[in-house]
Amino acid sequence: KTCILIGAPVDSGKDRRGCLMGPDAYRTAGLGEALTDLGHKLRDMGNLTPATHAPDLGDSKLHRPNETIGWTFRLIRAAEEAMSRGLPIFLGGDHALSLGSVAGVANHAASVGRPQFVLWLDAHSDFHTPETTASGNLHGTPLGYVTGRRGFGGFPEVRNPIPQENICILGLRSVDAAEKLALQGTAIHRHDMREIDETGIARPLAAFLQRVSEAQGMLHVSLDVDFLDPMIAPAVGTTVPGGATIREAHLVMEMICDSGLMTSLDLVELNPFLDDRGRTAQVMVDLAASALGRRVFDRPTPGQQ
Ligand code: ARG
Ligand code: MN
Ligand code: MN
Ligand code: MN
Repeated sequence: KTCILIGAPVDSGKDRRGCLMGPDAYRTAGLGEALTDLGHKLRDMGNLTPATHAPDLGDSKLHRPNETIGWTFRLIRAAEEAMSRGLPIFLGGDHALSLGSVAGVANHAASVGRPQFVLWLDAHSDFHTPETTASGNLHGTPLGYVTGRRGFGGFPEVRNPIPQENICILGLRSVDAAEKLALQGTAIHRHDMREIDETGIARPLAAFLQRVSEAQGMLHVSLDVDFLDPMIAPAVGTTVPGGATIREAHLVMEMICDSGLMTSLDLVELNPFLDDRGRTAQVMVDLAASALGRRVFDRPTPGQQ
């Protein structure tokens, strides 16, 4: 594959600063070398900047909405362009970058007549709108935006909303009351840590991948650092205890790889300022490598194939 690294140092989606250093931390942790070692071609587009936008004057209940709007315009275009040339990997940046990355890849899928699916690996459901958010942090809104919820005035129009049933969220353990209510009325597939404890993580994932495959869909994977347990991934502003283990996370990535379905990837919410000798950046690089072919022995995942 041709992997296209797109640095997206988005830091406007929440109060705490530091995610802007994410793209360079991934490069420093050896993401490019890991991918070329696996036999992939690599193009690094460097770090993008947001499209021209109105200044944020601090007069909104939202945190820096205009900067996030600028990023969304820029990333939609970057995603559309990259999709026709390879597999884009969006190096975040906070999760607000996914308003643009997901909307952009969905436009490309529509242009080639294939359905877009999204796998959301996250402690949070990120299903707010600018109207429902209590924190004012737009990194809590990307799934609301890309599914076409109302309330995103000033943002680019979502031309190809992701159908709810094409979305699967794995790893949930922090869902706000308003989001829970909104999610209950949707067909979004959602699997909390309790379910993962009870059935294992492979079962809901295999079922989802099967649906993507049957529909001949494109698959966008959005990996939030806080999907992982904070013990193994401390470098994130929104830690929630009880997350995925290293082993669960690698299994997810290996199953994604075996499926051959992934067409784009976000690595989001890494805050290198909070890291411990780069170990969270390294875990994220290792997970990306697993999703793109790194393995111990070649063998099919039991119960798949
Ligand atoms: N639901 C909370 C909020 O709206 C947390 C969102 C966390 N999102 C994230 N991408 N880490 O503020
Ligand atoms: Mn998130
Ligand atoms: Mn999260
Ligand atoms: Mn499901």
